[in-house]
Amino acid sequence: MRVLLVGSGGREHALAWSISKSPKLTKLYASPGSDAISEFAEIVSGDRPDVDLVIIGPEVPLAEGLADQLRGEGILVFGPNKDAARLESSKSFAKEFMVRHQIPTARSKTVNSLQEGKAALAEFTNGVVVKADGLAAGKGVIVCATREEAEAALTAKPAECLVLEEYLEGPEVSLLGLCDGKRFLALPTSSDHKRLLDGDRGPNTGGMGVIAPAPAWNEAMRARVESEIIQPTLLGLAKDGLDYRGLLYIGLMLTPEGPKVLEYNCRFGDPETQAVLPLLQSDLLQALAAAAGGDLSGEELRASGCAVTVVLASEGYPSKPISGRLISGLDLEELVFHAGTRNNGDHWITNGGRVLGVTGLGETHAQARERAYHAANKINFDGRQMRSDIGAALPTPA
Ligand code: AMP
Ligand code: GLY
Repeated sequence: MRVLLVGSGGREHALAWSISKSPKLTKLYASPGSDAISEFAEIVSGDRPDVDLVIIGPEVPLAEGLADQLRGEGILVFGPNKDAARLESSKSFAKEFMVRHQIPTARSKTVNSLQEGKAALAEFTNGVVVKADGLAAGKGVIVCATREEAEAALTAKPAECLVLEEYLEGPEVSLLGLCDGKRFLALPTSSDHKRLLDGDRGPNTGGMGVIAPAPAWNEAMRARVESEIIQPTLLGLAKDGLDYRGLLYIGLMLTPEGPKVLEYNCRFGDPETQAVLPLLQSDLLQALAAAAGGDLSGEELRASGCAVTVVLASEGYPSKPISGRLISGLDLEELVFHAGTRNNGDHWITNGGRVLGVTGLGETHAQARERAYHAANKINFDGRQMRSDIGAALPTPA
């Protein structure tokens, strides 16, 4: 199978690493790709090569309708159409979808002006979360403990369409699965660490580290999420005529009242992918092609073990990351996924906010965590930011 992978980040580096192990692969291309991805793929720009399957990594081309365009040309695509990608690209669309199909989620209100927003705050007395409606690379959400914080968050984004949401508490779980429009084939669960600093302090980021499987997950919760969330979501997609052949990422909060959907994403999580794909024993490419072809029946995804991924980020991330720093200590033996690097011929150089994701594997979370930090601590660059508590505080199962 000749495959084109679209994207250039850590998620795509992990996808390229995983796909390149498939006996079904005859040739892998990447666009725009990266210096790190070029280890596994031929980088192409301009004319699209003749391929059997296109895998679209990031949300932006999906939201812009790349999948529709390629399908229109008769090409097999892993990635939902533009309409279905609105589950991620518009928070208000996702909220309406969940309400319409009775999928448990935080109570919310969509507002279109500062005045409307301020008036709506009275409806949220136990903390409120302010969300930009459109794509924001994981940085469009402000969790507000007080009314003053909420007013400040509203004032900072006055002209936009915003979603205000009740504040939920509980362990968070990223549930990623391949979807063929009718079925959901789950990957191992994981928990991202969204805040910049240890102890879940500081601003929200795209994700500073991951533990997989999610410690708060168990069989009882899986069965509950299957019936209360996955099945209604699949039925909702069908009822609304949404063509979903791609990765469906369900962001869950396991609240005391039960699991609720925080968000849908229409692509693999980043950095969740860097932790989850190394746990797979099945052929990922085969399953991606089956989902793209609309028939996952007969596919399975076997996985085992535990993973911890620690992100090394640039100075100034997330607000103003500084690039161009020399990276030392990269060891080819370790499982290191490149999110924002380039190679100048002699050295790897930082090139973006999140720079590297270092994954440790083990039979237990503790072992995986120890290996991840052992490897991550060998890598350095000026201004490096790294949380020291990824996977440390294991929440008790809900
Ligand atoms: P989202 O992009 O909607 O998933 O939001 C990003 C992050 O903000 C989530 O992963 C949560 O950590 C946090 N968050 C979002 N919505 C809520 C909520 N209703 N209550 C508490 N935290 C939230
Ligand atoms: N790590 C969170 C996301 O990919 O949206």
